[in-house]
Amino acid sequence: MIIAIDGPAASGKGTLARKLAKHFNLAYLDTGSLYRAVALRLVLDGDDPNIEERAVEAARKLDGSLLSDPGLRSGKVGEAASVVAANLRVREEILDFQRRYAASPGGAVLDGRDIGTIVCPDADVKLFVVANPQVRARRRFEELKAAGEDVTYDTVLADLQARDARDEGRAIAPLKRASDALLLDTSELDIETAFEEAVSIVEGRMNA
Ligand code: CDP
Repeated sequence: MIIAIDGPAASGKGTLARKLAKHFNLAYLDTGSLYRAVALRLVLDGDDPNIEERAVEAARKLDGSLLSDPGLRSGKVGEAASVVAANLRVREEILDFQRRYAASPGGAVLDGRDIGTIVCPDADVKLFVVANPQVRARRRFEELKAAGEDVTYDTVLADLQARDARDEGRAIAPLKRASDALLLDTSELDIETAFEEAVSIVEGRMNA
């Protein structure tokens, strides 16, 4: 079984994806971390994420050890990730890896922006997880603050809205709900309730 989960930043899709993978005993890939690792490489090397050759080179040589680097989740790297993610050649470099991962024996859960539309268009279950911008900004603000970043709620909200616009507006693999994806709005749901809803959506699809 392949479960594809897409949605905007801080919508809760990562937490849901991880919990669903555990519950259904599936492998789990956070595809955003791949774009973040490319971005982190560029940030560490002092390279501009807008320079295509540099970004493609970093994607080609994607270094697995960066995936566990604490710098991966910083606000700056999230921003740079969404810049490199708008580049077609960067996306092509990491597409095969994602598709091979999806073919893991026993199945997998992948979360990102284009899983249901591009990476796994034939996924057995597709979820599109959303929450209103204020709720998402509050969650991301708490996360960044807990990680020791010096941020304000207002700048987090503004950054998130800029990132939404970039992710939704780009020409290649934009953030978009697949026509067969089920919508899950977590604005008013705590993690456990959102998880229970997601489980019942998956079970509903499996039994259909
Ligand atoms: O954790 P958060 O939701 O903030 O973002 P993420 O999932 O770690 O993704 C970081 C950035 O990578 C996003 O803003 C997207 O621009 C990009 N991304 C993408 O283009 N396609 C994916 N499948 C996953 C992430």
